[in-house]
Amino acid sequence: MYKILRFFLSFLSAERALRIVLACVSFMGRIRILRPITRILYKRNDPKLERTVFGIKFNNPVGMAAGIDNSGKYSRHFSDMGFAFLEIGSVTPLAQKGNPMPRLFMLPKDKAVIARMGFNNDGIKAVIENLKKTRPTAVIAANISKNSISEGDKIVKDYGYCFSMLYDFVDMFVVNISCSFTDGKQPDISYLSEIIDEMLETRMTLDQYKPVLLKITPDIGHSQVDEILNYALLSGIDGIVAGGATLSREGLDTKPEKLEKIGDGRLSGAPLFKKNLELVKYIHTQTKGRLPIIGCGGIMNPQDAAQMLEAGASLIEICSGLIYNGPSLVKKINKYLISHNA
Ligand SMILES: Cc1cc2nc3c(=O)[nH]c(=O)nc-3n(C[C@H](O)[C@H](O)[C@H](O)COP(=O)(O)O)c2cc1C
Repeated sequence: MYKILRFFLSFLSAERALRIVLACVSFMGRIRILRPITRILYKRNDPKLERTVFGIKFNNPVGMAAGIDNSGKYSRHFSDMGFAFLEIGSVTPLAQKGNPMPRLFMLPKDKAVIARMGFNNDGIKAVIENLKKTRPTAVIAANISKNSISEGDKIVKDYGYCFSMLYDFVDMFVVNISCSFTDGKQPDISYLSEIIDEMLETRMTLDQYKPVLLKITPDIGHSQVDEILNYALLSGIDGIVAGGATLSREGLDTKPEKLEKIGDGRLSGAPLFKKNLELVKYIHTQTKGRLPIIGCGGIMNPQDAAQMLEAGASLIEICSGLIYNGPSLVKKINKYLISHNA
């Protein structure tokens, strides 16, 4: 059914098509009678899929990556579609419109996406209201970032504000640092620790323990990954999301003229898989499995998901795979994992 819908949507701009899909998701979530039907169609419950990571119980290992539900508006509906967890955001203190359109492009030949959304989201206060309204059943991770206008000291404050404001409304946090920097590099470790140490200190003063994860880009080299891992193990970060999208355009089948016309942006989808699988393996080996990993990037089918888990990820996330294959991918992955005891 999603393939037919996608065929018609292919005549629209990618962002308009995504908005229509989200409107359909929202419609399905609002019609009470459709909710149990959605759950029957998409959800897979099986004790073999359950796992406890960072002290949180997940019904299955499949989550939705940041960038689809920027403001937590659809969290109930995506919960019904079988995701065990949803990474909402990136959320910033104030609402922001993001970059001018067009800013989302499909590369069907490569099963990839180029996006330069610019963290369009409704801002913390609206996100809290959305979460109160939708009351999702999936585990909610807030991917937090800074406003694009924030500079200097304000950057650390933005992260701290997002963390404190959302603490009572989400189950865990993903600190998104890579995408906040236009050159695509991870910031140096002293800067990273300034942002994260403040959050971990705040957490110590609070009753409930909420895991804090760091999302890293596959564009950084091993020495910087090592530095981040050392810091993570010493500081008390609970896990790593590895990894985000890439600035690289290597090995694509899409014509160079089309890529040039699209311009800047981060590439997601199938071409990322190998790079991110290697990153997950590397982190798992370097940390001797002491730091739980959420494997993300280029997971387009159940076999990819199983490989990511085998490489050392405790959980996985999908984003472009969802855009290309629709929500049935979650069920397909879970069915595959059950049948392969993965
Ligand atoms: C349209 C779109 C928007 C995204 N927005 C964000 C974002 O706001 N914050 C973030 O950390 N990652 C964002 N991402 C990156 C994804 O969360 C994910 O890390 C990346 O797409 C790789 O996974 P994939 O190959 O399954 O798509 C976005 C990706 C896409 C395609």
